[in-house]
Amino acid sequence: MGALLSLIAVVVLALVPFVAVAAGDLRFLVGVVVPGIAFAVFVFGLMYRVVKWARAPVPFRIPTTCGQQKTLPWLKNEELDNPSGTLGVLGRMFLEVFFFRSLFRNTTAEVNPEKEKVTYVAEKYLWAAGMVFHWSMLIVVLRHFRFFVEPVPRWVEFLQFFDGFFQVGVPVIYATTVMMVVGLGFLLLRRAFDAQVRYISLPSDFFALFLLLGIAISGGLMRHIEKVDIVQVKAAIAGWASFQGVTPEGVGTLYFIHVFLVSALLFYFPFSKLLHMPGVFMSPTRNLANSNRTRHHVNPWNPEVKPHTYAEWEEEFHDKLVAAGFPLDKE
Ligand code: HEM
Repeated sequence: MGALLSLIAVVVLALVPFVAVAAGDLRFLVGVVVPGIAFAVFVFGLMYRVVKWARAPVPFRIPTTCGQQKTLPWLKNEELDNPSGTLGVLGRMFLEVFFFRSLFRNTTAEVNPEKEKVTYVAEKYLWAAGMVFHWSMLIVVLRHFRFFVEPVPRWVEFLQFFDGFFQVGVPVIYATTVMMVVGLGFLLLRRAFDAQVRYISLPSDFFALFLLLGIAISGGLMRHIEKVDIVQVKAAIAGWASFQGVTPEGVGTLYFIHVFLVSALLFYFPFSKLLHMPGVFMSPTRNLANSNRTRHHVNPWNPEVKPHTYAEWEEEFHDKLVAAGFPLDKE
């Protein structure tokens, strides 16, 4: 049900620009104003959320520890799983951000009815699909710089060359376009057909996937079926950058659908689970070293606790301790 609702929502979103451009000739509104506002909401929304996180006090070190911490010199410690300093944290973050290391080690619980036992087995498909989708999307977005920057930077040409290495089709079908759709398709089917995952899925989980799929498919169709005049697209994008509002010419309805869905994504991003992108950098369970035993961390807003040594305690209760017959350190 959640999947159907989200699919309907994305189809309606795709129909809005279709109707607006075909029936109302609202090209300026759909192609310039809406994406402009969406971009502003995205930037300020993201800043607001990140600053709010950054200001949240983290008085204690709460890194997730999954291995031996640094202790006696003859005990081998796990620097990545229990970082003792900045270098370990950097290594851990790098592997998390670029290779989804914790997802790689994900397991799934299965009940074996014959043995009446719960077993935990490795689940690498989710990790593989996550990697395929995220990396492809990153490269697709980086390739889009050829629309945003003039002249096209060398590194973009380099990416395009390797992405279209197999030279299939005219224009060349980029491997990442296909991989992005396949990755998203797997993630969607997993949510829809795996009973356990479906049970814990919300409509918003499906919505994000359908929306991204809609963007990728409309982009692919635009490249291979309803082609666009790239020079005009560049002029429209330069218009955004210079606040001049240039209505894109020489582009079909698919362009407006693509840009409208991207705008929906930008509007939605700062208020959705997609915020895990900046969130991973702000997560104290990942970005802190475990120095709990080597350094004394004091919660800054606790009332000041005066130390009370044994000698002071003995002094305070001296008479009572003597009366009760306790041996004292100080006679
Ligand atoms: C406002 C921002 C964007 C504009 C103006 C835009 C414009 C375009 C255009 C003109 C094409 C056709 C390319 C060609 O003919 O070679 C395209 C393709 C495509 N776009 Fe976008 N796009 C935007 C953002 C995005 C985003 C954020 C994503 C991904 C989440 C995306 C995913 C794709 C994909 C997958 C294709 C298929 C071809 C390829 O992989 O390059 N686009 N886009």
